[in-house]
Amino acid sequence: MPLKQMPKLTIDDTPVEVPDGLNLIEAARLCGVEIPHYCYHPALSVVGNCRMCLVEVEKAPKLQIACNTRVTEGMIVRSRSDRTKAAQRAVLEFLLVNHPIDCPVCDQAGECKLQDYYMDYDRQPSRFELGRKNHKGKAIDIGGGLMLDQERCILCARCTRFFDEVTHTSELAIFERGDHNVIDTYPGRKVDNAYALNTVDICPVGALTEKDFRFRMRVWYLHRTASVCGGCERGCAIDIHHHRGRIYRFKPRDNPEVNGYWMCDAGRHSFPTLQSESRLVAPLKQAGDRMVPLGWDAALGEAAAKIAEYRRSHGANAIGAVVGAHSTNEEAFALKRLMTAIGSDRIAGLTWSPADAPGDDNLLIRANRNPNTRGLAAIGIGADGVGRLGEAAAAGEMKMLIAMRADLVRALGEAEFVRQFGPLDYLLVLDTDANETGQMANLVMPIAAYPELDGSFTNFKGQVQRLNLAFDPPGEARPAIGVIAALALHLDDSEARAAAVPVTASAVFAQMAASEPAFAGLTLDGLGEHGAPLRTPTA
Ligand code: SF4
Ligand code: SF4
Ligand code: FES
Repeated sequence: MPLKQMPKLTIDDTPVEVPDGLNLIEAARLCGVEIPHYCYHPALSVVGNCRMCLVEVEKAPKLQIACNTRVTEGMIVRSRSDRTKAAQRAVLEFLLVNHPIDCPVCDQAGECKLQDYYMDYDRQPSRFELGRKNHKGKAIDIGGGLMLDQERCILCARCTRFFDEVTHTSELAIFERGDHNVIDTYPGRKVDNAYALNTVDICPVGALTEKDFRFRMRVWYLHRTASVCGGCERGCAIDIHHHRGRIYRFKPRDNPEVNGYWMCDAGRHSFPTLQSESRLVAPLKQAGDRMVPLGWDAALGEAAAKIAEYRRSHGANAIGAVVGAHSTNEEAFALKRLMTAIGSDRIAGLTWSPADAPGDDNLLIRANRNPNTRGLAAIGIGADGVGRLGEAAAAGEMKMLIAMRADLVRALGEAEFVRQFGPLDYLLVLDTDANETGQMANLVMPIAAYPELDGSFTNFKGQVQRLNLAFDPPGEARPAIGVIAALALHLDDSEARAAAVPVTASAVFAQMAASEPAFAGLTLDGLGEHGAPLRTPTA
């Protein structure tokens, strides 16, 4: 195959070699040079309407827009020459002629490209009087969770192109002429699609903001932690924006292997369920008709004693485990290791999606709402074994069940749960939230939600992506891999104790890579920002 051409050019006096076909914004970015731009977005068509990216190209008589100029051999580009700087100042002055300059009350402040570029490329007083600006609509609810401020809009047309080219719903357009141009919905229509809030991310100014996030937190207080959306088996790469242990928003993180630049609105709004009032904050033990808190040592001691008791009296297969497919790869592997050490082969995966969940669509959304279904399969925990465990429990062969992130009552329905698992002697639940399965348990151990731990999910295509701890779990909740390791250490059997998996996610991942062929050669730290594919296909 012929090698792809690499044109040699000069950007700001530095000779560079870049892949053919790139525009000057991308070529400069590769060389660490920022060419300011508004309308250009790598996932949308090029319209060249903002003129913010004008640069000097030697031999071209006029300045060229970098977004629509491809690299060619021998090209000499100047992004910081006096002519370029004068053009950048002029464009910013033009864009600000009718802008309301309401930064102190604008929710985009701190992440607004108009503010940023004014400071970086302009910094001159306006020649236009504030009182003579054109006024347009403010705080218009246009549907889809979006608020539109027409005065702040710089008419870059990113939002209209997103709805035309990505969702193909075309709810927005530019109306009127000249300086009366406005973004608006078509008469009688509202924005109505499952990805509308991506326009908030790509709007470079405060014209499109999110109703739910507006005025809740100044963005400079937010910390970002790279993670993965747990809303469905797509596993979109995200950044968690958080402050003092609270999540304020999810934002999509570019991952060409998984989600590109986008995420769905349902996934974006899935974080409140991770920090709801129902979070478990201490181990709970069934005492008559209520659950009472107890310390971790007592809880681990009781669970270990029950495991030993049933093993002794009925054999290792009297103990079973159900792993919900919201568990991370490391949690699933750790529990599988513990079950193997105990000597039981009764372990099954649980995937369950609400009946009203949307079906697969052509963009990102998957009907399977379980983020790690493929990961469990790769670890050898099939999603079809819960029925067999239920029959064993119903027949009295299985006495104890460990349910991790598996709300069996919700998945099976109460009557079926009671029919299958009602005869159990002992139910141990490891979960983040109080739920009906927990209410039926003998013992409940509180574990960390995925923003509160290190680990990984494997998406439905087999891409293993890293989760990073954003903040600690609430109360006494602990990462599940630590709970499983502590449980193994409380067992009275030295073989089982020796099999206690290590408690850091990287070390558990290393053990998993050594024993599960699908993960061979992978390391948690080596997954990088885009993740890595499983080594052998399992589905
Ligand atoms: S609303 Fe935002 S994204 Fe849409 S045209 Fe105006 S500035 Fe651009
Ligand atoms: S498509 Fe799935 S993984 Fe992606 S944001 Fe939506 S719910 Fe989350
Ligand atoms: S980014 Fe090039 S014209 Fe707008």
